[in-house]
Amino acid sequence: MIRAVVKRVVYEHNWELVGIEDGFEGLIVPGRTRQLRLADVRGILPRGGTILGTTNRANPFAYCVRTEDGRVVTQDVSQQVARRVKELDLDALVVIGGDGSLRIGQEFFEMGVPVVGVPKTIDNDICLTDVTFGYDTALDTATEAIDKLHTTAESHHRIMFVEVMGREAGWLALESGIAGGADIMLIPEIPFHLEAVEAKIRARERQGARFSIAVVAEGARQVDGERVYQPDHDPLAPTRLGGIAEWVARRVGSRLDREVRTTVLGHIQRGGSPSAFDRKLATFFGSEVVELIARRGWGRMVALQGSDIVPVRIADAVRQVKTVPLDGYRMRTARALGLCLGDE
Ligand code: F6P
Repeated sequence: MIRAVVKRVVYEHNWELVGIEDGFEGLIVPGRTRQLRLADVRGILPRGGTILGTTNRANPFAYCVRTEDGRVVTQDVSQQVARRVKELDLDALVVIGGDGSLRIGQEFFEMGVPVVGVPKTIDNDICLTDVTFGYDTALDTATEAIDKLHTTAESHHRIMFVEVMGREAGWLALESGIAGGADIMLIPEIPFHLEAVEAKIRARERQGARFSIAVVAEGARQVDGERVYQPDHDPLAPTRLGGIAEWVARRVGSRLDREVRTTVLGHIQRGGSPSAFDRKLATFFGSEVVELIARRGWGRMVALQGSDIVPVRIADAVRQVKTVPLDGYRMRTARALGLCLGDE
């Protein structure tokens, strides 16, 4: 993405590009900006992550700081950030990220900062774009993991639970489950009954399958139950989901008296070389966001819609989380193929 922005700006415009390190942190803490030139982006296409660094703990509207006596307090440093944008003489601020970053971008736009956005998250949970960049690579990684888990599941006759990311959206769990040939997918959109999971495992056994694979989204929850969060919470960072797959595995294992194992894919899903699809999408988004800047499309984000890339209002894109449609072709297919979604 950054590579495409730099290249188009260099080849088509005479603008100066400033890279801001570690997201909004780089506009809060001094000395964290640097000029971006062609040489800075040479060879980065096959690399994951970002050359500028990032953080999810630097929301300028609720910036967490630790006081001398060890307490964590939040401060609104947004005015300071808006002043910094002026000091740096920025004509446009490109915000690349998921719903958190884009919401912050929208707030700055409402304060008069010329913001444009690019949807980038493995969660694929941004509205008005068919897909976000980063999602396809994470989907490939999760699918490959499910493929590999089949080996032990089959040989050892086990029920394998694999937990994938995605926050409140089940895209990664549902689509990796379909692509990897899982039997059960538990997603945040459909609160699950343990009985449904157990019934599916028993039904497979009656059909002669002595193993099952369940993909559990980190945001999945039991009917009338709560989401499961990591206990080791860092007070300076947002709360982290995690642990639901183990929670389900323990219960199903003891109720059915079967051998179960849990694998949490975690940040493996966010790493590695991007897929060809993500490289393309990031390049298209990068090029199109330069066009958006040239047209002064402030408050807008680039979005993939069908076979075109179009500008959409950031406010509309982040108004709600894009979850998996319950009546769409994905769910229809999953159900038609007898996959268990935990609800029946
Ligand atoms: O939003 C992207 C995401 O990878 C989520 O899928 C996941 O819940 C979260 O970030 C993990 O955050 P952290 O890197 O802070 O553990």
